Amino acid sequence: MNNREVWATRVGLIFAAAGNAVGLGNLLRFPSKVALYGGGAFMVPYFVALFLIGIPLMVLEWVIGRYAGARGHGSMTGIMGSLFHHANWARVLGSIGVAIPFLIVCYYIYIESWTLGFAVLSLLGQMPPPTGAEDYKQAMQPYVDFYKSYTKPSTVAIVFLVITLLVNWYILQRGVVRGIELTAKFGIPALLLMGLFLGVISLSIKGGKGLEGLFYIFTPDLSKIGDPQVWLEASGQIFFTLSLGMGAIATYASYVKAKEDVLKASLWTAGINEFVEVVIGASIAIPAAFAMFGALAVPELAKEGTFRLGFMSMPAVLMALPLGWLLSAVWFFLLFIAALTSSLALTQPLVSLFEDEMRWSHSTAVNVSMLMVSVGAFLSAFVPSFIDEVDFWAGTLMLVFFALVEIIVFVWIFGTQRFHRELTRDVFFKVPLWLVYFFAVVSPIFIFILLYQWGVLQLPKVLANTSLEVMVARFFVIAVLVLLAFLSVESKRRYLSGPHL
Ligand code: ALA
Repeated sequence: MNNREVWATRVGLIFAAAGNAVGLGNLLRFPSKVALYGGGAFMVPYFVALFLIGIPLMVLEWVIGRYAGARGHGSMTGIMGSLFHHANWARVLGSIGVAIPFLIVCYYIYIESWTLGFAVLSLLGQMPPPTGAEDYKQAMQPYVDFYKSYTKPSTVAIVFLVITLLVNWYILQRGVVRGIELTAKFGIPALLLMGLFLGVISLSIKGGKGLEGLFYIFTPDLSKIGDPQVWLEASGQIFFTLSLGMGAIATYASYVKAKEDVLKASLWTAGINEFVEVVIGASIAIPAAFAMFGALAVPELAKEGTFRLGFMSMPAVLMALPLGWLLSAVWFFLLFIAALTSSLALTQPLVSLFEDEMRWSHSTAVNVSMLMVSVGAFLSAFVPSFIDEVDFWAGTLMLVFFALVEIIVFVWIFGTQRFHRELTRDVFFKVPLWLVYFFAVVSPIFIFILLYQWGVLQLPKVLANTSLEVMVARFFVIAVLVLLAFLSVESKRRYLSGPHL
């Protein structure tokens, strides 16, 4: 028996898990990728990846999280360890699954702080007024300048970063039930309401011209379906948006009651995430840009990076509407809530490592975790290219690699039959064994092809850049991997005998 917290209610658990998955990936990353990679053509590999790797991995992380949680472990270090008598190799391999969410949250929380800053500045009437220009470049120029001067970083950006770090620290300090679950119980319904509201506004701009933008998203540019880059991007999006291969879902799953129906929980998590992405995410930024600036502007905007649509084009569109300052504030609060519930989830694996494995008190575990996140967040703010570089390694490549590790370790090495027994315990539907075999073979092949393509298509381009800033980011990634591997072995001794701090 252990005295770890468990989610207090079923609905709280589902909302917390939905908050874990739903984030900036749904509302910023997804629309940019769709616009850039062929509209509806992107959706074909997207759905293939959802069913071949997304849902199976989601179920896998829930099943294994419940198993390890009942044995007192919530971080991948402890989860992998608990399956193999805490062998060093399993704990070290698992530590990659703590490093990934930590590395992601380092830059994620900085972007989250922009959303809070932009929301408050919108409310205070500090957003630039609309230019009234028809041409999208002219219309957006004041918002491009505003974004650039804010993210330089300005003093105000740093103030909002500190506030965001404190909000995350406070919620995590309150714990799983009184902190994360309570935030999700208010946050997710508010997010759904704000998202649906903005979706309706965007689709109805200029008498329904936004709706045409939605058709644009779902009309396939068939010439792009055979492009390996489109497949890579669509599959990468599935991993990122569902928070898979990050260890974060398994950590939340470790706080369920012993008999929780994890199959139901995983389907709810994926379902809500896909609703917020494909229905709400698709209905806001692209249709709004499409209606205001025309079809040609959309891929152009997306080409200029993930942040163009969200931080420059959206305020340019919304500020031109009646009560624009309020609409702009709603948009950025929506992003903030989505990001906040994800940053909590991305930090929790580290908290769990310190709490469950190092046997530190909850308060110390949160303090040290947030101190580490703060270091990463300030590096994101002050080192140019840090965000892109760490996003490539942790948010694109490592999570796909780690998903492969998860399948091999949890299904192949742990044993297909044992995994199946765990999967069919206390769930509403007994998944047949042949399906486990099927995914145990098909998903790794799919992931293997992805990793190969990444190696061929993107790695050489990324590695060609050896500027000082990029090297700082790479050094940080390596240092984090080494530190967490060390702590995973070191904590084994503490875990077996160590005192509480
Ligand atoms: N799954 C989270 C997101 O979509 C990380 O932002």
